[in-house]
Amino acid sequence: MRGSRRGARGPGGSASLLAVRISVVLSPAGAVVDGPCAVIVDVLRATTTLTVALANGARGVLPAATPEEALALRAARPGTLACGERNGRIVPGFDLGNSPYEYAAERVGRKMLAFASTNGSLAMLAAQGARRRVLAAFVNARAAVSRVRGEREVTIVCAGKLGGFSLEDAACAGLLIARLEPHGGAATNPAARLSRALAPRDGAEVRALVEGAAHARDLAAMGGAYARDLEFCAGLDTIDRAFEL
Ligand code: MLT
Repeated sequence: MRGSRRGARGPGGSASLLAVRISVVLSPAGAVVDGPCAVIVDVLRATTTLTVALANGARGVLPAATPEEALALRAARPGTLACGERNGRIVPGFDLGNSPYEYAAERVGRKMLAFASTNGSLAMLAAQGARRRVLAAFVNARAAVSRVRGEREVTIVCAGKLGGFSLEDAACAGLLIARLEPHGGAATNPAARLSRALAPRDGAEVRALVEGAAHARDLAAMGGAYARDLEFCAGLDTIDRAFEL
């Protein structure tokens, strides 16, 4: 057999794609993900916000299960900011909340981020046994696919909401699966097949889906700044970079 790791050449030179086995975990509750490659998805808002932060020069992210843990990480590591939310709002004593608009280059450049959010942090911690942890959301879906398409096995870990299902995360997982199919991607468990069925086909469907999500309604009810965050999180491929923890 000749050819690259991705496209093996079969008899007579026909190209056959090597499969990318994709499974989905719909919430981090009780999950331990230790495969070769995990993709963490928290559309509203953690992985959207952290993608902005890393694109703006943050050095890295230290997921924390609790605000106390994030504060301890900040105390122990100079140059670290305590970031995240509880009930959508900045935690008292933290440097930053969880709005993508707070993570400008002049604020996070060359900083480590000790990050404690309600759901997103738990998803990142559930996958700490994985060799790679890639952050994905609708804003960087295309870039995230490019980053993992060489893998043979991918586990998409949805942050969900308080241990339960969240539509926007499952649909984003579905979009990633749909976009990996031309590269040999295949859904391998029921959650992945369900997510694939929810995949939005374009930016308008992403917007309708995000705006209709339960967590979006909760955030919108908290006021204008949160509504602006929703608008941002509902963007499709607006950031051409994907980052790893
Ligand atoms: C989370 O991680 O739970 C969310 O990102 C919460 C939020 O919207 O801030």
